[in-house]
Amino acid sequence: MHYIRFLRPPKVGQTPLIELLFIISTDLGDSLLIPNEPIELSVTAHIGGSSPEALSVPLSRKGQVVWKAGQRVLKPAFRPPAVVVKALAACQDVQICVAPSKVHSAYSAESILRSGGGDGLIMPVWISLNRQVDEDRQVSTRKLHFGQGIGSASDLEIAEDVGEPKSLARHVWDGGVVTVCGLAGTIQRPGSVPEASQGPWMQAVKSILAGDRPVHVLELGCGVGVLGLGAAVVASAMCTDPSQETVVMMTDLEDAEEQVRSNISRLPRLEGVQLLYENLDWEDGRRGNFGQAVTSRAWDLVMFSDCTYNVDVLPALVETLSALHAANVALASADRPTTKVFLATKPRHSSETAVFDLLSQHRWVKIQEQTIPLPVMGDEPQQVELYLFEKT
Ligand SMILES: C[S@@+](CC[C@H](N)C(=O)[O-])C[C@H]1O[C@@H](n2cnc3c(N)ncnc32)[C@H](O)[C@@H]1O
Repeated sequence: MHYIRFLRPPKVGQTPLIELLFIISTDLGDSLLIPNEPIELSVTAHIGGSSPEALSVPLSRKGQVVWKAGQRVLKPAFRPPAVVVKALAACQDVQICVAPSKVHSAYSAESILRSGGGDGLIMPVWISLNRQVDEDRQVSTRKLHFGQGIGSASDLEIAEDVGEPKSLARHVWDGGVVTVCGLAGTIQRPGSVPEASQGPWMQAVKSILAGDRPVHVLELGCGVGVLGLGAAVVASAMCTDPSQETVVMMTDLEDAEEQVRSNISRLPRLEGVQLLYENLDWEDGRRGNFGQAVTSRAWDLVMFSDCTYNVDVLPALVETLSALHAANVALASADRPTTKVFLATKPRHSSETAVFDLLSQHRWVKIQEQTIPLPVMGDEPQQVELYLFEKT
């Protein structure tokens, strides 16, 4: 998948003139989009956020903003209509959205899952025109429409750093996006469940999240929170008894904390789900050193996405999983508990398979797997691999 990515926040000049600077690149930011056909982009200003009086105002003309093969960057400028100038002067919330046409757009779970046999999609981006509070850390937002079956939180909003990915923890990655789209698909109306969501891995994870007792889910290396927040939205939509609260605990290095906490606060209250965050470095986890919140309960499901690309960290990651299982055993009063681990990855190189040898050495048993095709515009198709392991 490709992402429209601002290289810096929009500049609003005196005239006034709105100047944008963006690229279209992969999740890793390592290659720019080389489309077979020029891709027309639309730029719109959205005034008033999610209020019922919100207004969308087109800024770009047809043919004005086009990304072509060989393009390095786009730097369009727009004279905003009076309504936008007035809104800015009144300090109203004004967001700029840059998006391709719907047929090329990764704007919803359905579009991403149905793109399987197609040409690959581009994810739109949103950014505030109002002065950002923290001048050192600028963010833009991804919005993913989850579909009608999801209830009140039908859109997942995830903010990430502006600019080319520097911190791995503060950007959106394909593995988590595709996985949450699949999970969201599992709870659509019968007849509209996408094929990928009917797969064995998806159905197994759905039945864990829909358990008839409170489910405790722990995410490792959550980054900006796509997987944890998406799973929480899906768990809430399946909740039939809000008193049986599902806990989704997201963890990562300190580097991730500020952004993921901010993304948690963007979500509306989720019925029947408690969302938590705590720092957890796998170098501590492998020794069984966990924070207070992680130690306080047993974990039915431990999950992570796009965390297996760096082979150097795999021993610490797998030993953390085993230490979490040992903690579950220590907390259990009667029967020996079973801990389940789900792993989602868009494989980037063959050495990543080392994680499976390590899991096997630690006696984690694979019980389900599934792949979801991920076409890439102008490039070789990719796929997201999903695995479910357990240990008793
Ligand atoms: C490629 S990012 C994926 C982020 C997120 N899971 C997603 O799919 O969007 C890898 C994540 O692993 C985390 N990570 C790397 N080494 C770690 C460690 N030793 N302990 C905890 N997290 C770690 C990084 O901080 C980063 O958030």
